[in-house]
Amino acid sequence: MLLTPKGFIEMNMFEEILDNCNDAVNAVDINGNIIFANEISAHYAKSTKEDMIGRKITDFYPRAVLLTVLESHEPLLDKRIHDVFGKRYVVDSYPIFRDGEFLGAYSVFNGLDEIDELNRKIKYLQMQVKLIKPEENISGVVDMGSIKNVFKQAKKIVGSLGGPRHSIITGESGTGKTMLATLIYNYAKRIGVIGKNAPFIEVNCAQFVNPDIAAMEIFGSVEGAFTGSKKKSGLFEQANGGILFLDEAHTIENYQNLLLKAIESGKVRRIGDTKEISSNVIIIAASTRNLDEVFLPELYQRLAQYEMHLPSLNERPKEEKEMLFSHFVKKYEQAVWESHKVVYHVKFTDEAKEALLSAVYPRNIRQFRDVINFSIDAAAPLIEDIGFQSEITTIVGMEHIPFNSLGGDTVKNNKNKKETKNINIDEYIEELRKQGLGARKISGMLEKEGINMPYYKISYILKKKGLN
Ligand SMILES: Nc1ncnc2c1ncn2[C@@H]1O[C@H](COP(=O)(O)OP(=O)(O)OP(=O)(O)O)[C@@H](O)[C@H]1O
Ligand SMILES: [Mg+2]
Repeated sequence: MLLTPKGFIEMNMFEEILDNCNDAVNAVDINGNIIFANEISAHYAKSTKEDMIGRKITDFYPRAVLLTVLESHEPLLDKRIHDVFGKRYVVDSYPIFRDGEFLGAYSVFNGLDEIDELNRKIKYLQMQVKLIKPEENISGVVDMGSIKNVFKQAKKIVGSLGGPRHSIITGESGTGKTMLATLIYNYAKRIGVIGKNAPFIEVNCAQFVNPDIAAMEIFGSVEGAFTGSKKKSGLFEQANGGILFLDEAHTIENYQNLLLKAIESGKVRRIGDTKEISSNVIIIAASTRNLDEVFLPELYQRLAQYEMHLPSLNERPKEEKEMLFSHFVKKYEQAVWESHKVVYHVKFTDEAKEALLSAVYPRNIRQFRDVINFSIDAAAPLIEDIGFQSEITTIVGMEHIPFNSLGGDTVKNNKNKKETKNINIDEYIEELRKQGLGARKISGMLEKEGINMPYYKISYILKKKGLN
């Protein structure tokens, strides 16, 4: 083929483009001699482009799909091949015709291992998102034990004949306040108290650097209300027809009276403005503190028409913890099914389950969930080791539990605490072990010294020291 200077420049340009794309490309003449190969193809073939040109395609790709196209003169698409060097490819291959004359064939292909690797990464990320995604409907949450009455009350907030009402949710961090507010919102939509597209505006009141900024964000402002302030609508206005979720509400400072006024009148006035705007909003205020102590009495009364308290995980009965435990394990199994289409069974040894249920979780259900997920992760096979198995069982044991990340285990029992400062706990454990005591006995001995350390933590320490 004779090339004009312009044609030559174009060839160079196309070669550069093909070298930089993510697909491998080969082209051969009617005899199977390589007339073109790009960088990726050379990389797969562990060769160089220069070395490949002019040689037989079979020297580099013994099972090349191109060979079939050379015979059939027909395109072959999405063909999967396993080459003799153990690599797998997915290939699209086409005949080359010019003015009706058959000149050869070319193929565009990708290594399946690379695609699989990418898919694995995507699936892994999708699964992580699924595992930490809060439940949005009551059917997805554990509504037994202490929580049952809270949910019953939550339904009344928006569902009672005289409602909807404002409410307060209190509870330590990670006990489910945001989840409960979302459930209330979705329930309100489901029963038609608010519209299908009603807003759910969440505002973390602790995020503002000063109360003036907080007030402008919540109520909006007109230009020049404060230095540099712009005309903008507030979150209260934006929540019109829906729910305004005021998280960390105990940090609301001197704009409590503005909030009270807005609630009482159903109207808001942007900071610096004279006119009022109607805003029909259901407020849910959440806090880790008792709002009775920090709110103006009138504001508290207005919001506390329904006050719900979510108990900490440690206050919840064991059966409830067990239900949450099963819930998170099931969620993990489901996420594996959804992401990998593998029927996944997770089983915990009795000891590991007991250890997880009796540990102390300062960050409550969120931490409980994370520790369960982490333990399963630690025991689970790698995705690439699953191969073609359609059903897998994983056993989670003590060695998979991240005891290091579990806080609050040491001195739980302050009442009976004796003088402990002269005891080096590690040395004491070691000494007791050398006397032949097991983890449970050692735990009992420590308890007598006023140190509350569960036996599983001791097992873990002994294991680390090679003394188990
Ligand atoms: N009863 C329950 N059933 C299932 N999952 C729950 C339950 N309660 C809480 N969770 C889960 O626990 C996690 C923590 O809940 P959430 O974020 O609502 O806590 P929070 O009280 O708002 O915490 P923070 O004070 O840190 O904002 C979420 O993933 C939530 O889905
Ligand atoms: Mg929250």
